[in-house]
Amino acid sequence: MVRPQDSRRRLVSFVCFVALAAGLPGTASAAGTAALPPCEVANTLTQHRATSDWERTLVDQTYRVFAGYAPTNLRSTSYAGLSGAYAVRRNVIADLKAMASAARVASARFAIQSAHRSHATQRSTFAYWVRVHGYTRASMESARAGHSEHQLGTALDFRSDGGAAPWTYRDWGTTKAGAWLRANAWQFGFVMSYPKGKSAVTCYTYEPWHYRYVGRARAAIIKASGLTLREFLWMEQTAPPPTPTSVPEPVATEA
Ligand code: DAL
Ligand code: ZN
Repeated sequence: MVRPQDSRRRLVSFVCFVALAAGLPGTASAAGTAALPPCEVANTLTQHRATSDWERTLVDQTYRVFAGYAPTNLRSTSYAGLSGAYAVRRNVIADLKAMASAARVASARFAIQSAHRSHATQRSTFAYWVRVHGYTRASMESARAGHSEHQLGTALDFRSDGGAAPWTYRDWGTTKAGAWLRANAWQFGFVMSYPKGKSAVTCYTYEPWHYRYVGRARAAIIKASGLTLREFLWMEQTAPPPTPTSVPEPVATEA
């Protein structure tokens, strides 16, 4: 488990840093952080790979978690008032429920297309897309086993309630539900991992349906930063430690 005070401390130390970086061009290498790695299919273990690191684990085409990585607190999405056929971490449920309810009020009702996927399920998901589109295209659309945010238990794919799979639309992000999520999901702690026009830095094609839960405070910071989630997580894990604040020596006074 992440202790709340650890989470808050990490957050506070990055608020100033990210706010600064957000205003700078070439942010990925701003303020002394290592440059964002190019998109490369590889199998490097990611730095923050404990299940308790859920909010900062970076997985992409290069970085992965262990095959045995499995959240222990999965809960049915029926607790969020949505289809019970899926699961996410328990700490995602309250904000997912609140988001579903706000979307209903806005007549932008969404449903779940996919949520937690085990290493084995991700393996067969990727294999399916390789059969459909071939390896090169599949690598841009689906993560290999160990490399998916779905294995973290915090990612969901959404679709319109009663609608077809979102990738069958020309741009699901322009539908009522898709546009509502794009504008509002951050307020409930969800970040679109693979936004439009950002494939060069996310390494995956545009996925307006794929959101990852990072918590409300963090989602607000990421939105304000203007960075994609991959850029933000990379910057966070390569940032130099904050400069210690010097405590002035007490001035000696004569008695
Ligand atoms: N479609 C995303 C990249 C995944 O498979 O996790
Ligand atoms: Zn997804």
